[in-house]
Amino acid sequence: MSRRIRKHANPFTVATHLGPLDRAAIFGREARLELDLGCGGGAFLFERAAAHPDRDFVGLEIRKPLVDDNNRRADRLGLANLRFFYANANTNLADQPPGVIERFFIMFPDPCFKKRHWKRRILQPALVRDMATVLPMGGQVFAQSDIRPLAEEMFDFLAQESALSSVLGSDLEVESPFSERTEWERHHETAEEPVYRMLFEKVAAPSGPVAEPEFRDTNPKRVHADGRPVEVIDPAYRLGAPDPSTPDER
Ligand SMILES: C[S@@+](CC[C@H](N)C(=O)[O-])C[C@H]1O[C@@H](n2cnc3c(N)ncnc32)[C@H](O)[C@@H]1O
Repeated sequence: MSRRIRKHANPFTVATHLGPLDRAAIFGREARLELDLGCGGGAFLFERAAAHPDRDFVGLEIRKPLVDDNNRRADRLGLANLRFFYANANTNLADQPPGVIERFFIMFPDPCFKKRHWKRRILQPALVRDMATVLPMGGQVFAQSDIRPLAEEMFDFLAQESALSSVLGSDLEVESPFSERTEWERHHETAEEPVYRMLFEKVAAPSGPVAEPEFRDTNPKRVHADGRPVEVIDPAYRLGAPDPSTPDER
């Protein structure tokens, strides 16, 4: 039976309170843990969990049907080291015990093009602070986007956090240091479209106030008075273009 999975969900309507992730209860062990925030259909984690049976993986996602499908698929594949939770990543990291989650992934986050929706963007200074707080020293945050101004915003928010240091420099057009691919990443690689990536590592304990987010306008649909697009970042976002052929969209 086919079901319709919503293309967008509003993170502010997801009230799930996960509390501290109980690794013994979830995985029956306390192995190295990695989290994918906004994992969508979970392609990246399915590949990664199969390739690293010694580690455990958690995907957080605000579209419940995807979470349920992903968990069923993990069961079917016998991936006992992979679990998905219906939860807003922005409100569930501060509860996590420090030193347990070794790596965060934030990949192709929703750009929330409309100004009134910018505050829904997942990668914000408060989330960066939460990640920097719970990571062990040397723990990592990997992020990527296909939308250059959004990737620059993400880089700025991560770089503002003095506890984190960029591992790949500031050139965002770099190869992925990981062999696994997300759905969106595959889509853009097949279409030979650029992807902007960044990897940060925890080098110090976080301190000082958390910056207010200075969001960037990433809307490719703005047009000049004569109708020319102000900025076309990616053909997938041109006015009137079909949606990218993936389970997710913006
Ligand atoms: C464009 S999709 C990318 C999915 C996947 N990371 C990929 O690269 O294929 C962004 C995903 O993030 C989810 N999302 C947005 N805000 C979130 C939040 N605050 N917490 C958890 N998931 C969120 C959306 O529901 C959507 O599935």
